[in-house]
Amino acid sequence: MTQQQAATVTVLGLGPMGQALAGAFLAAGHPTTVWNRTADRAVALVERGARTAADVAQAIRASELVVVCLRNDEVVGEVLELAAGELHGRKLVNLTSSSPGQARERAIWAARQGAAYLAGAIMTPTPTIGLPSALVLYSGDEATYHTEQRTLGALGGTATYLGSDPGRAAGYDVALLDIFWMGVLGVTHGLALAHAEGIAGRDLAPYTAAIAGMLASMAAGFAAQVEAEEFPGDRSTLASAASALTHIRGTTRDHGLDTGLLDASRVVLQRALDAGFGDDGLGRLVQMFAAPRVAPSATS
Ligand SMILES: NC(=O)c1ccc[n+]([C@@H]2O[C@H](COP(=O)([O-])OP(=O)(O)OC[C@H]3O[C@@H](n4cnc5c(N)ncnc54)[C@H](OP(=O)(O)O)[C@@H]3O)[C@@H](O)[C@H]2O)c1
Repeated sequence: MTQQQAATVTVLGLGPMGQALAGAFLAAGHPTTVWNRTADRAVALVERGARTAADVAQAIRASELVVVCLRNDEVVGEVLELAAGELHGRKLVNLTSSSPGQARERAIWAARQGAAYLAGAIMTPTPTIGLPSALVLYSGDEATYHTEQRTLGALGGTATYLGSDPGRAAGYDVALLDIFWMGVLGVTHGLALAHAEGIAGRDLAPYTAAIAGMLASMAAGFAAQVEAEEFPGDRSTLASAASALTHIRGTTRDHGLDTGLLDASRVVLQRALDAGFGDDGLGRLVQMFAAPRVAPSATS
C-alpha cells in the first residue's frame, strides 16, 4: 500500500497508548491527524509526519476513521461532546478502556450522532503496538470492523472481532484484567513476603515462571470443568489448598505484613469447605464467587 492509497486516520488522545497507536498508523503509511488536550504531546509524532488539529472538530473532520484513546469513558464523553455535530457519517473506533455497560451506552450515544461505532479493548502494553505481539479485541459495528480491518491491522499482532454487542470486547477486557490485577497483587505480595524472609526479590524472581506459567492452562482446564460441572480433586484438593493457605497466612502475619488479601482468599475457600467441596479440585472456586451453593454430600 502506498502513502497515497493508505486511508487517513484521526487519533484523539495522546497519552502513552494514543501516541503508540498514532505512531503505528504513521509507520504503516497512513496520513494521521492527531489531537490532544495537552498539545505538546504531539511534538514527536509531528516530527514523524503527523498533522495536528487545532480542535476536536477539526480532527474529526480530517478523517472518516476516528480512533479514540483517552483516560476513560467519562473523558471520551467530555471530548466528543465538544464536536458531536461532526461525527455524522464517521466511523468511531473507541480503544479507551471502559466497562461493558459504558461501551453499550457509548454505542447508543454514537448512533444518535449518526456515527458507526466499534469498541476495542487493547490487551497488551504500548511497546507491543504495531508488532506481532499486540492483541486488540473488537466488538460492535461489524461493517466498520470489516471495512477498517486493513487500516486497524497497522496496530499489529492479533485483532479479533467478538460480535455485534459493543460491550462484548469490554467484557473480555474486565475479565482478563481481573486475572491480571489479581496476578499483580500476588506478585507484589509474594515479593514482600520474600523480603520479610530475607530473600532478595532477584533471587526469588527466576522461580516465579514455574508458577505463572501454569495460569493459562489452568484457566482452560477450569473452564472445561465448569462446563462439565465436574471438579475432580485428583491433582490437588481444596482441603489441601486451605491447609497451605493457613501457613502462608501465618508466616505473613508473623512478619507483621498485611494479611487482608489472604484473609479474603480464606473466606472464599472456607465457603467451599463449608459447602462440602473439600475433596474437589481448585476449579470449584469459580462457583464460589456466585451465591453459595450446597453440595449434595452436605445435605445428605
Ligand atoms: N498504556 C497502556 O499500556 C494501555 C494498555 C491497554 C489499554 N490502555 C488504555 O488506553 C487508554 C489510554 O491510556 P494511556 O496509557 O494512553 O494513558 P491515560 O493516562 O489513561 O490517558 C491519557 C489521555 O487521556 C487524556 N485525558 C485525561 N483526562 C482528560 C480530560 N479531562 N480531558 C481531556 N483529555 C484527558 C490525556 O490528555 P492530556 O495529555 O492532556 O493529559 C491523554 O490524552 C486508557 O483507557 C487505558 O486503560 C492503555
